[in-house]
Amino acid sequence: MLDLPQLRSELSDHYDLEPSEAYAEEFAEVYARMDRVVSPPEWMTYAPYVRAINRLKKERNAVILGHNYMTPEIFHGVSDFVGDSLQLAMKASDVEADIIVQAGVHFMAETSKILSPQKTVLMPDMEAGCSLAESITAAGIEEMRAKYPGAPVVSYVNTTAEVKAASDICCTSSNALQIVNAMESDTVIMTPDQYLAQNVANESHKNVVYWPGSCIVHEQYTAKDLIDYREWNPGTRLIAHPECPPEVVAEADFSGSTSGIIKYVTEEKPEKAMLITECSMASNIADELPEVDFVGPCNMCPYMKKISLEKILWVLHSGENEVFVDAAVAEKARHSVQAMIDLSRKLGL
Ligand code: 13P
Ligand code: SF4
Repeated sequence: MLDLPQLRSELSDHYDLEPSEAYAEEFAEVYARMDRVVSPPEWMTYAPYVRAINRLKKERNAVILGHNYMTPEIFHGVSDFVGDSLQLAMKASDVEADIIVQAGVHFMAETSKILSPQKTVLMPDMEAGCSLAESITAAGIEEMRAKYPGAPVVSYVNTTAEVKAASDICCTSSNALQIVNAMESDTVIMTPDQYLAQNVANESHKNVVYWPGSCIVHEQYTAKDLIDYREWNPGTRLIAHPECPPEVVAEADFSGSTSGIIKYVTEEKPEKAMLITECSMASNIADELPEVDFVGPCNMCPYMKKISLEKILWVLHSGENEVFVDAAVAEKARHSVQAMIDLSRKLGL
C-alpha cells in the first residue's frame, strides 16, 4: 500500500476530492442522516469522497459492508449494508456482488471471504485488527481441548480463520448464549473473550470455561464508572455491550450486541442514554432518535478507526489489500461459521 501522501496524490489525479459546497448539496439527503453529529464544513470535505465511492461501487459491482462502529460518514454515506457481526456475516454469504469492501476489522473481512470465496474481499486497512483476535491462536484452542477433553469449542467470530477452523462452532455477541445452551455437553469451552464467556455463564446452565482474552475498548469500563454516572446524571439509561466485564453488565439496564443496543434504544427511546461501548454507536443513531440525549463517556476502538473514506476509495480504485484465506483453512472455518448461521436461523435470531 502506498503511504498516505502518495495515495492522496494518486487519488486526486483521478477524482475531484477538494471540499465542495456543490457536492455537499448534491448529497444533502445523505447528510440529513448525520447532521446532528457532523458539521457542515466537515460534510463539505466528506461529500466528494462519498460521491466518488458511490460511483466507483457501481462501476466495479462492489458493495460495502459497514459495521456499527464505523464513523457516520462511512456508516450513512457509503455503506450498502450495516449491522453487527452476525448480520454482516449473513449478508456476506448471500449478497450479490463481485467485490465486498469490508468497512470493519480484519476478522470480519476473513469471515466474508470464508463465506463467499468466489468474491474479491478488500480491506481498506490491513492493520485494522482486534485485541480479541490477536489473543489466541489455533494452538490455544488445542490447549483448551487438552484441558477439557470432549468439551465443544465455541469461538467468538472475533478470531482468525485458523482459530475458527480449529473450533467446533462460532458465535457472536447476539447469539452466544443460545449457541452455548445448544451444545450437548455440560462443559463448554468459550474463546477468546473471558468477559463475554462470564456474561454467558451467568445466564446459562452450562459449565462455561474460557480463554483469558479481552476487548481493549470494553474492558476499560468499570462498575464504579456506571454507579458514579448514574449518581451524577440520574435517569440515564445505561446500556452495555457483553464484551464488558460482568460487574459492568450487572450495573447496566440492558446488555446486547451492537444491533441489540440499537434496537433497544430505538424501541425504548429513553430520555437520556449512555452506551457503554464504542463511540460511533451513539453518533450513528443520533439523527434517527432526536428525542434521546446520548450522554457520557465512550471509548474508541483504534482498529475500527483506521478505516476512512479515503482508504475505502483507495482500495476500490486500486484493488489493493485483497484478503485471502488458505483453501483448507477456509473450508474448516466455513464449517464453524456456517454451523453458527444455521443454528441462528433455526432459532430465529
Ligand atoms: P457485535 O457488532 O457483533 O456486537 O460485535 C462488536 C464488536 O466488538 C465487533 O468488533
Ligand atoms: Fe476488537 Fe474490541 Fe475493537 Fe471490536 S471493539 S474490533 S472487539 S478491539
